Order: sequence, then structure tokens, then C-alpha cells
Amino acid sequence: MSNEKTATKPAVSESIFQKVISHAKEYGFVFQSSEIYDGLASVYDYGQNGVELKNNLKMCWWKAMTQLNDNIVGIDAAILMHPKTWVASGHVASFADPMLDNKDSKKRYRADQLLEKHADELIAKGEAVKAQQVLDIMNEHLKTNDLKALLDLILAEKIKCPLSNTANWTEIRQFNLMFSTQLGAMAEESSEIYLRPETAQGIFVNYLNVQKSGRMKLPFGIAQIGKAFRNEIVARQFIFRMREFEQMEMQFFIQPGTQKEWYEKWKATRLQWHKALGLPADKLQYHDHVKLAHYADAAVDIEFEFPFGFKEMEGIHSRTDFDLTEHEKLSKKKQQYYDNDINKNYVPYVIETSVGADRLFLAHLCNAYTEEQGTDANGEVKERIYLKFHPAIAPIKAAIFPLTKKDSLPEKAMQIFNDLKLDFNLNYEEKDSIGKRYTRQDLLGTPFCITVDHQTLEDNTVTIRYRDTAEQKRLPIAALHKEIGDAVSMKRIFELL
Ligand code: GAP
Repeated sequence: MSNEKTATKPAVSESIFQKVISHAKEYGFVFQSSEIYDGLASVYDYGQNGVELKNNLKMCWWKAMTQLNDNIVGIDAAILMHPKTWVASGHVASFADPMLDNKDSKKRYRADQLLEKHADELIAKGEAVKAQQVLDIMNEHLKTNDLKALLDLILAEKIKCPLSNTANWTEIRQFNLMFSTQLGAMAEESSEIYLRPETAQGIFVNYLNVQKSGRMKLPFGIAQIGKAFRNEIVARQFIFRMREFEQMEMQFFIQPGTQKEWYEKWKATRLQWHKALGLPADKLQYHDHVKLAHYADAAVDIEFEFPFGFKEMEGIHSRTDFDLTEHEKLSKKKQQYYDNDINKNYVPYVIETSVGADRLFLAHLCNAYTEEQGTDANGEVKERIYLKFHPAIAPIKAAIFPLTKKDSLPEKAMQIFNDLKLDFNLNYEEKDSIGKRYTRQDLLGTPFCITVDHQTLEDNTVTIRYRDTAEQKRLPIAALHKEIGDAVSMKRIFELL
């Protein structure tokens, strides 16, 4: 999780980000959790369109992992696991953030985030060299876990609490990010357990179950999509950093010594997957970790350029045999694999790919949000806003409109809706002018609008309107299934992998 920071360019499109957040709420993508009670910080709910987008992204990942690779299978492990799991994984001992409080405002901050913000401010003032020096010193203190030196740096840089405007800080302490709860109803019989902070451990503890029951031969992978929980102290950037979030992780089990080769392969494969889904190449970059997590011998992030700068979206880690060996020690159950090819038992090494479904969602929402100047039928300049999702991930694939509510047009439109709904997620809309209905579908990112008019009753053709170009053409009803199906098929993405 922890990662060396370098100075990035200052956020230039914060106002676009605010627009994306408002859009997400107004059009049913993301809502603040428990909003009627003033919300729960860093927890969000997905609305009727958000859940479709998220499910499409998850399905695209799941199929790319399991369906396209005959040596990768999926599982769905429980969120609650034996507490020893988190001792073995190192999370009980070291899954913590360096925190400090301002004594005047009583507000709590992450030390590294205060320093990063300070560095951003220095860059904005044209002091990029100084910013990098601050980050270098910070990284050094984080690496050696020298909390006293970290506080000295904050004091030396005269960093103040934005609320109280004072530098009256407490000492820095490590704060564990795992949520704990009680298993069992009776206090005296119950034991403390954790909500999993990563899905990966559910895969590690099941690796031999899968290997044996599936007769899997190394190299093979296990994929999983599921919720993870972290008591993130500082709420930041909408769904970028949440307390309850979803991970899509794949552990690839390999022979020790082959990790470098597999690490490079998965690094390239995962970047290509993001490009195939429509994220532009110039908004994606690798960021190598200098400070490695306790389990890794190499690690890289795939970063996306969010409106607030390039930030981690996916991590690829070469996790060695750390996890399996630690589970072997603590459980006293052998985690070795017998390799027929070389007649040897060994604990496999692991390459992990781990992408946050919510960050991926946010990347696609930000990337899709488009404001465009155009002219309407009367030659007036108008701004058009639309979400240019790849059709395969768009929440609604097509909207069907009868031109009017009369003359059997709704019946004809409903017939088309019923014929197509088994294969595609559709909207049916008969309210408002056609122009307003187009605008609404643009705002939801629907790639196709189909209008049924009087000509349809005569020759069974409809008008199809394309979201990105706003172009319209006449098409036979019989051609609609292929027209929509070809565009929204995940095959179009998979062919690029
Ligand atoms: N199993 C390895 C692991 O959990 P990580 O870098 O801590 O590694 C992997 O997390 C991914 O999970 C991140 O790249 C990010 O996309 C997502 N993620 C992590 N913490 C998150 C949070 N608080 N909110 C949303 N997504 C998060």
C-alpha cells in the first residue's frame, strides 16, 4: 500500500472534478451513504446507473481474467476470516498510517499527506526542486519509520493545520487501518475479528483447495472480486479513498525464480487491459515503488490522470512466497506444491494484480465526462455534456422513444423494447421532446437512441442516433440487434488484449 511519492504537477481541473461529482449524484451514479443523516464520511452508495457501470467493469475484468485464460479460475471467499490470517499477513503488526493531531482544532491528519499537500503548494509557487527535496526527506523517514524526524520535518516546513492555522501538533503515532468487530454474541465467549483489509488473503488461504480440487498445474491464477475495508483516517477525493471499497485481485502462482518474467508480463497485460477499455494511453502511466511493502520484491502502480493528478488505480506486486510461508508457519499446515516437472516440493511465488473497482469506476467517469460546444438546429451555440463511455461498459445500451404518445407509436416502440431487452439493458421514454430525451441519454452515456415515428409504421425503419457524433440515420428494425450488439460486445475489448 505505502508508496514513494514524487512531485506531480498541480491539480489543474479541480472544477471539472466538482462537476463530475455533482453529475454522479444528479444522474444516479453515486450517492453519499446515509445521506438523510448527513452522510457517513468516506462511504458511498452506487445508484441505478452507477451499479450498471460498475457491474460492467467488474464483468469485463472477470472475463478477461477467467474466460480468456485457461489457467485462471475465480473464487468468492468470505469477508470474515480467522484472526490469525491477519497476523500471518503482517496486517496486525504493520498495516498502519502515521497520524498526528492538531491540538487546537483537534483535527487528525496523515503526516505524509500533510507533507504531500505542502509539496503541491510549493510546486504551485514554482518551487519544484524544494518540493522534491521535502518529499525525498519524507520518504527516507517513512522508510526507516522515524516518526520523530517526520514531525521535525513538518515543524521545520512550518506546516499549519488548515482549520486552526497553528502548528501546535501532537507527536506522530502509527494508527492501524483494520476495522475490528466481535465474533459471537456473548462478551465472554466472543473474540475479536477483522473486516478484511484486502481480498488477497482469501485467495492465499484457499490456494491449495483450488489447486487440488481443480487439478491446477503451476503456473495458475486465482481471481476474486470483493469488498475490503480500511479505516482511512482522512476522507479524500470522493470515491478515490473509501472506508468500504471493492477490489479485483488476482494471485498468479509460479515457480520461484520465474517472478521477474511473470511480473513484466502482468505489468504489460494489465496496462493493455485499461487501454482496451478506452482509457487514453497518455492518461496512464507506471509508477515504480521505491519503498516496497513488507511482502514484495518488486511493485509498480498503474496510475491514471484523475482531475486531481496522476494517482494509483492498480497495483502489481511480486509478493515472493511471503504470504504462503507465513500462513504455513502460523497454521502449521504445509503450503507446498509438488511440481511433477522437476520432482520437487516448493512454496510457490506469487505475482499479484490488484485494481480497485471504485477507482476504476472513477477513472472511467472522469474520462467519459465531456463538455462540447456545438450549434443547435437554429444555429445557436449550445454546450453539450455527455458521458463517452466505451459502449461495452455504458450502463444503458440504448433508449427507445416513440415520437409521440399517439397513433400506436408507443405500442410499436414497446414491441422493439421487448424484443431487445433480453440482450441489452434499455431505457424506454415517452415524456418530453425528442431533443430533451436525447440530452438526458447523453448525460447517462447511452450510446444509441432509437426513435419510432410514423414512417416506422409504414416501412419498419427507425431513426438511430449516435451519442458521440449526434449523427442520425435510418435503419430497419431488423438491423438493430446487430448494430447495438456489435458495438457493446465485450469481444471488441478482448480482441485488443
Ligand atoms: N492486495 C494488495 C493491496 O491491497 P493496495 O495497493 O493496498 O494493495 C490495491 O490496494 C488497490 O485497491 C489500489 O490500487 C486501489 O485501486 C484500491 N484501494 C486501496 N485502498 C482503497 C481505498 N481506501 N478506497 C478505494 N480503493 C482503494
